[in-house]
Amino acid sequence: MKIAPACVLFLSGCAGRQSALDAGGPSASALENLIFLFVAVCSIVFVLVMGVMAWALLRARNQTPGRPQTERSMGRVVAGAIVATFVVITFLTAASFYATPSLDRGQANTPTIVVRGQQWWWQFIYLDPDPAKSFQTANELHIPVGTDIRLRLEASDVIHSFWVPNLTGKQDLVPGRENALTLHASKPGVYRGQCAEFCGLQHSHMALLVVAEEPEDYARWLAAQRAAAAPVDGEAAAGKLVFMSKPCAACHTIRGTEASGTTGPDLTHIGSRSTIGAGLLENTRGSIAAWIADPQTLKPGNNMPLVPVTSEELRQLSAYMRELQ
Ligand code: CUA
Repeated sequence: MKIAPACVLFLSGCAGRQSALDAGGPSASALENLIFLFVAVCSIVFVLVMGVMAWALLRARNQTPGRPQTERSMGRVVAGAIVATFVVITFLTAASFYATPSLDRGQANTPTIVVRGQQWWWQFIYLDPDPAKSFQTANELHIPVGTDIRLRLEASDVIHSFWVPNLTGKQDLVPGRENALTLHASKPGVYRGQCAEFCGLQHSHMALLVVAEEPEDYARWLAAQRAAAAPVDGEAAAGKLVFMSKPCAACHTIRGTEASGTTGPDLTHIGSRSTIGAGLLENTRGSIAAWIADPQTLKPGNNMPLVPVTSEELRQLSAYMRELQ
């Protein structure tokens, strides 16, 4: 492989929508600077150590045999190395401490979104002082750009870890405990994140998207999400009847209907999300049908049971899900 294409390939790993080296907000910038600082300092230390070692080897070769180095000068070298190590480690530790507070800026009046880790999907609860305006969604977090948003991190089963590298550092979601992160996107975009703590069989299929939007787009999204599911007709209406008559409604909520289960993700506006199964599949009618037909083959071990449906019912159910915009 030629050097130039190899470099391009290597550096291309630093860009993209899931990279800590392509910061999209202040927390990620602080961490990115920290990463570069560590790499720079460690590179300097590496070059110095290698240089001194090469010098020592050459010197030993050129030395007259039988003339050992005096203990005094050896002691000075060792003491110098210990002091240098102490200074470097203290400096890097201080730099880490300095960067950490940017992860949770902790203002009390910042809008808060509850993030609950579930095996294996993300529950996002948008809290509002007016309970009628609170709603929840799954796996796709929308935030306005240029504003701090506070995430309250919780877990209901095992430990998960929230990690959207472009926007912030990792923070664990621990059952029985509340952690917090400040999320702030400087520019609009879709940032991919992933669970970063092994949480069982489908840990690798626990992805999320953060959609950072201009305030007016965000307000529009917010209003649409707050609304109950719109009435449906035709094939989708038939799908709604199937949904309500099968166990689906016992696990999922669709606001505006009698479905009010809380085990699975809220499906009120599932049609508006870009993926299903926590980033597993693109949200199309085909993948929804495939998911309902055989969730355990697509994501073995997940909590969605196989609900027997006819192919006719499958078509109607997938039409209904797509209509839930
Ligand atoms: Cu949740 Cu890994």
